[in-house]
Amino acid sequence: MKKSDVIRNILRDKPSTPRIQFGQAFAPTNIALCKYWGKRDLELNLPINSSLSISLGDKGATTFIAEIESDQDSIVFNEQSIALHSSFGNRLTTFLDLFRPLPTVRYQVITQMNIPVASGLASSACGFAALVLALNHFYHWDLDLTQLSILARLGSGSAARSLWQGFVKWEMGSAKDGMDSHGHVLPIQWPELRVGLLILHTGQKPLSSREAMLRTVQTSHLYSAWPKQVDMDMQSLERALVAKDFNALGRTAENNAMAMHATMMSAWPAIVYSQPATIGAMNQVWELRKEGVSVYFTQDAGPNLKLLFLAENQEKVMAAFPDLEMCEPFG
Ligand code: DP6
Repeated sequence: MKKSDVIRNILRDKPSTPRIQFGQAFAPTNIALCKYWGKRDLELNLPINSSLSISLGDKGATTFIAEIESDQDSIVFNEQSIALHSSFGNRLTTFLDLFRPLPTVRYQVITQMNIPVASGLASSACGFAALVLALNHFYHWDLDLTQLSILARLGSGSAARSLWQGFVKWEMGSAKDGMDSHGHVLPIQWPELRVGLLILHTGQKPLSSREAMLRTVQTSHLYSAWPKQVDMDMQSLERALVAKDFNALGRTAENNAMAMHATMMSAWPAIVYSQPATIGAMNQVWELRKEGVSVYFTQDAGPNLKLLFLAENQEKVMAAFPDLEMCEPFG
């Protein structure tokens, strides 16, 4: 099935002319505590496993969209004009192609992100979520968050979780058209929870998460163990959230990230996102834990770490990592 078939199905009977001058929306970025790693459908970004994330409150993307009189789209990202033939420009215009009411319609898209983008901190997740929210506003589609989560997933899998604040579960689903593969929010508040962004390296990523995921599924013998790991971790996380057991949450999230990276390291050619500073920071986290400070890390497809801790340990964690960018997901 094609993306355009799914979209036609969702937007059936929906207006295709804007009644306002522009649409605008914000979406938070999210950090997975149990990762999405591997697709069963490359076209629709349907995952091999369910995943669970925490959204980062006011950290994310604000996107503005309008139709313009021009023969090409105009994309501005963090105040910089983006070349349409760059990989970023191309990914965005190809996604917009799916929504143009007429092939001649051109858009102005302006996006502002308040997370360190160069370091690959889930920018595609909040970027695609904010874009579909802005389109929904612009065209008055009035879609619900489930439908918007499905549309955002077509842009980037992890964007399916960026439609909500708090803890979000993305159910993998089983339908061929992916209509049952979307996020939903878990009814759990945890105001004391803190997430710290630890930027260790800002160079260009060697490989996108999209390519890394594919290579891992195709070549890693360890990958067959991944769905089993996820089943256990999803259960542990959901139990930890209900019981507000922070150590169980941190332990599961850290172990899940390490297991995902183990599948990558066993791919061929091997994929290693960690830099020397990443390993150094992991050791520092483990040292802190030995000293009795409850702090854990998670790592995505990049060298930077996200630290998980509670407000009661904020001072000690900040003392060890003075450059940490602090987020209060429920703040
Ligand atoms: C490691 O959502 O960026 O961050 O669907 O190909 O766009 P595509 O992949 P993407 O992958 C995110 C991978 C991850 C884990 C996660 O966020 O769950």
